[in-house]
This record gives sequence, structure tokens and C-alpha cells, in this order.
Amino acid sequence: MNRTDVLEHLRSSSPVIAPSMLKCDFGNLGREMERLNQADVQLIHWDVMDGQFVPNISYGAMVIERSRPQTAAPFDAHLMISDPAKYLDGFIEAGCEAITFHIEAVPEPRELLKRIQLADCVAGLAINPGTPAESIFPFLDLCDLALVMSVKPGFGGQKFMPEVLPKVEALRKEKPELILSIDGGIAEPTIADAAAAGVNVFVAGSAIFNQDDYSNAVAGLASKAGNPPASQEES
Ligand code: DX5
Ligand code: ZN
Repeated sequence: MNRTDVLEHLRSSSPVIAPSMLKCDFGNLGREMERLNQADVQLIHWDVMDGQFVPNISYGAMVIERSRPQTAAPFDAHLMISDPAKYLDGFIEAGCEAITFHIEAVPEPRELLKRIQLADCVAGLAINPGTPAESIFPFLDLCDLALVMSVKPGFGGQKFMPEVLPKVEALRKEKPELILSIDGGIAEPTIADAAAAGVNVFVAGSAIFNQDDYSNAVAGLASKAGNPPASQEES
């Protein structure tokens, strides 16, 4: 999908539950992708960590590239790395349709945002819990997406930080057409407040991968976010 199609896809599929490929079973990645296909996920979120920007190392573009043929769901790369400009091309070539990097790593993000959009990919800026929403207002004209971290980046399974929700509201007000994504501690008890604040894309790791049935977990989250999947609507 090109950038316009992915944006249309995210808007029409909202609320989008995006499994975070941080809490999955990396020893059985092919089976995990199959189970996510069965859960009919509309976006897959890859949490890339370099051990410098965050105190954890996950994986690089080659893992994403090997997973690309296994699903039609768009890939959303969340680059928690200190030099995203250096590695950007690898993630584009691996087949990522959306690429988000951190303002804390690239305080002057315009050039990189333009490069991502010129590659016909959705361009996103991420802000850590302690970073004000206003810090990315000057760059929103080049952003298709903003990712508000609701945990300190680096690890799954942390507690949701509701104090970041006013930042979602501020970003929605500043640029109404922005795709707003939230990442960290999203689960059935927390997702409704995030949806009420204006979130479109809900990144979830533990709330999906700690469950036996991924389809049920995704459906439960979508329902709590205010849009039960078609199958539930029929029943
Ligand atoms: C933090 C990671 C986690 C992960 C989601 O850097 O980005 O937020 O995606 O993990 P859970 O859903 O378990 O908090
Ligand atoms: Zn993430």
C-alpha cells in the first residue's frame, strides 16, 4: 500500500488495534504472524530498539523483511533508535509502510520526515511521556501520524500512564486530521480512556501476546475502544 492508501486504511479501520512485535514468541515468528492474520489485525507495530536510545535491544530491518511476505497487514516501524536517518532506507526496503521516530532522538526532524513521505510511507513522530505535545507542533505539517508513548520506551508489560492523555487531546486539537497512536500499557481497562482522548491506533503487546487466543484479545480491545468487529456486531 502507498502512503495515501495506508492513511485511508487507518482512518477507515479506526480504532486500529496494532499488535506490538515486542511481546510475541520470537522462537515461532511464522506461527505468530499466522495467528495475527487469523485475528484479522489491520496494522502490525514493530518495536525497533538499539540499546542506545532505550536500554534494550530488539531487532533490525532483516527480521521485519522476513516477515513481510507472511501478511498483507501494513507494517508500522517504531524506531526507538538514536540514529533513525542512518537506518531509514533499510526499513523502507524491508516493506514498512509507516515509519515513526522519536523527537528526542532527532530534535530537527523535518528532513527525515520529508524523506519518509518522499518514499511514499506514512511519516510519524513519537514523544516520550515526559516530552510536551507542543514540542512537535512546529513539525506537524510534515507528520501524518503522532505516537504518544504511555510508558517509558524500552520494555513491554509496564503500567499505563494516563497523564499522557491530555497530550493526545492537544495534538488532536492542533491537527484534527492527524493519525494518533498510543503505545504502552494498552489493555481492556485502559483503552477506553485513550479512545475518548482521540486515539486512532492502539499499540498492544502484553494485552494480546499474553493471551491464549489472539483473535479474542484483539476483538475485546476493539470493542472496549468503541467499535466491536463486524462479527460481534452481527451477534
Ligand atoms: C515500549 C514498547 C511497549 C510495547 C507495548 O517501548 O513500545 O510499549 O510496544 O507493550 P505493552 O502493551 O505490553 O505495554
Ligand atoms: Zn512501539
